[in-house]
This record gives sequence, structure tokens and C-alpha cells, in this order.
Amino acid sequence: MSNQSFKKLSLLVIHGPNLNMLGVREPGIYGSVTLETINRLLTEKAESLGYRLSIVQSNQEGILVDAIQTALGQHQGIVINAAAYTHTSVAIRDALSAVKIPTVEVHLSNIYQRESFRHHSYIAPIAVGQISGFGANSYLLGLEALHHYLNQE
Ligand code: DQA
Repeated sequence: MSNQSFKKLSLLVIHGPNLNMLGVREPGIYGSVTLETINRLLTEKAESLGYRLSIVQSNQEGILVDAIQTALGQHQGIVINAAAYTHTSVAIRDALSAVKIPTVEVHLSNIYQRESFRHHSYIAPIAVGQISGFGANSYLLGLEALHHYLNQE
């Protein structure tokens, strides 16, 4: 068998604005787990499922758009918490539509239990699905959901 048959699939995790402040930021809503810990847990889970994992966090919309565009040909699935850009960014949604990489949307908080401006997501209609409300676990559930989706394709 060629080496190609053993090439691991690669996934990309994208964290949007203010998620670098997890642990400090409104712990009553977002919990006390830091982004560093979430990233470690994601890396361990991805490894156990047999994937390579890349992680990007930015507070800037254009950098997130660039990361999505660059994912084309590099990553086979995306887990995204676009944070506030979920509710505002046509540009991030258009980038995801352009690359057509299967994407799972995640949120730490249950966005439907919160202010009405958080109830609309530009990403949800073009995502495989959405996981919202399980704290840091939303990311791990999102990774698992993406894994199941990729294995049934
Ligand atoms: C969030 C929910 C968003 O409404 C908010 O702007 C965030 C975080 C979440 O993970 O619960 O920054 O995406």
C-alpha cells in the first residue's frame, strides 16, 4: 500500500473574537476553562480519532476569512465558534460557502437562551449542524459530530 493510504485527515478549529479571554471573560456564561485547555483537549481528542488538528484564534474578521480560504485543499473539516461574528458576518459565511468544507458550528453558551440578537446565525444554514450550550464540551461534541459526518459521507 502507498503512504497516501495512511495520510491522516486534517481538521481546522476556528475561534472568533474574545474567545482568547475565556477563563476571565464572564465565567458565569462561558465557564472557567481557558482557551489553552480547550485547545489541549481538542488536540488530544483529534489525535485519538486519528486526525491532524490545526487551531486558529483571531479577533479580526478578515483573518478568520483568510484562515477559511487557506483551508481549501489543506483541511477536510472545520469546527468553528465564530463568537460575535456568528451573528454579523456575511463574509465568514461566504468564505465557508466558497470552500465547501464540511463545517460544524459550536457555541459554549446556549445562544437561544440569551438576547434575541444572538438567536440568528449566518453560519447555521450552511453548516452540517450546530452545537450550543455545553460549555467547553461543545467543542469536543462538535469534533465528534464532524468525525461521524466525515465517516458517513
Ligand atoms: C459564543 C456566543 C456568542 O453570542 C458570543 O458573541 C460569543 C461566544 C459562545 O460560544 O457561546 O462571543 O459564540
